[in-house]
Amino acid sequence: MTNRVAQLLGVEKPIIQASMAYLTDAKLVAAVSNAGGFGILGSVAPGQDYYEADVAKNLALMQKEVQATKDLTDKPFGLAVSPRPVLKRQAVTDATSGASQSEEKTKISDIAKEVNKLKTDTAQAQRDYDTTQDPFTDGQIKIAQAEGIKVVLYSGTLIPAWIDKFHAAGLKVLFRPTTPYAPIIKDAVQAGADAIVVTGFDEGGTVPVNVVGTFAALPLAVQAVAGKVPVIAAGGIVDHTTAQAAFALGAEGLYVGTAFLASDESRLAANIKQAIIDYDAEEVLMFRAPNSYYRSLPGELPNKLVAMDRDGKSADEIWQAAGDYDALRQGMLFGDLSKGIASVGLGISLIHEIKSSQAIVDDLYAGIPENKR
Ligand SMILES: Cc1cc2nc3c(=O)[nH]c(=O)nc-3n(C[C@H](O)[C@H](O)[C@H](O)COP(=O)(O)O)c2cc1C
Repeated sequence: MTNRVAQLLGVEKPIIQASMAYLTDAKLVAAVSNAGGFGILGSVAPGQDYYEADVAKNLALMQKEVQATKDLTDKPFGLAVSPRPVLKRQAVTDATSGASQSEEKTKISDIAKEVNKLKTDTAQAQRDYDTTQDPFTDGQIKIAQAEGIKVVLYSGTLIPAWIDKFHAAGLKVLFRPTTPYAPIIKDAVQAGADAIVVTGFDEGGTVPVNVVGTFAALPLAVQAVAGKVPVIAAGGIVDHTTAQAAFALGAEGLYVGTAFLASDESRLAANIKQAIIDYDAEEVLMFRAPNSYYRSLPGELPNKLVAMDRDGKSADEIWQAAGDYDALRQGMLFGDLSKGIASVGLGISLIHEIKSSQAIVDDLYAGIPENKR
């Protein structure tokens, strides 16, 4: 085994099943890991059919799902983490404008605005983010340690101090910026990330704000890391041809969501699995959502959201009509597109049948050149 990603993960094949909230569970994760790849339990309600808001109860459910996964595989698998970008109180006070800096001013909307500004300034983030205010991520670290998990997939805002915390707990870190800006990638490498997952606009889920496709984002990222750590490609990778293309552009690993949704083992509702087969990329809808866009297969509610976008409604209004992230639960877990949406990546044109995760991993692996395995 010479491939750096496979070595880092302790697996045979550098193929990672992406974090996808409710759509991940013990069965899918174990199936991918048993096939020689690396399954990941999402950070939002893996294996659940509702979102448990109580942190302690939520963590207990997550630990059970980790244990259920261990019952199904003795191969390595990972846990997704998404540390909350909480500003230190002092930083928030400095950042908010106006003379009367009362406690009232540090309300969520102010913090959200400041966090958005900090997203592009890691040096400031290093100073101003507080890593002591996220009991959920701390709890996930404890679960990882207790259950023998060795790798976390950290997606979201880069907070270097969190990378230090994960390392101090003995965890390797795959960092996936929501938007793969080259300066953020360089900062993440500097901060000690063990690998970078680069996600192009072709992906399903929350798409990057810079609207740069996978095969444009990938070479940019490969140049930014300058060989220091491996780059893992995400967005629209579903089979051996797209795997081969990603490796030709310098990827050393694959991060795959949608293709595994269309597997025998995934929890995706049967009617939506069928829709993935029936529709092609050009039929996938897109509408505004806070920060960027969201995609969906067509259906009653998704069609309405596109019409709202055309009518000039704001991203917040559209997202509220979608039902926020509950839209994914309604649309994908329960298959009801009158109440939810079905987010998929643009690789669906190459998905023609529902297969086992083993068959999907084997097909992806066939696209990886032998001298890069
Ligand atoms: C239904 C769905 C839900 C997702 N949920 C999450 C999530 O909760 N957290 C996250 O970091 N990424 C999430 N993603 C993004 C995936 O981790 C990954 O970046 C994406 O699936 C890769 O593109 P692909 O679907 O074209 O393979 C989600 C993707 C999908 C399709």
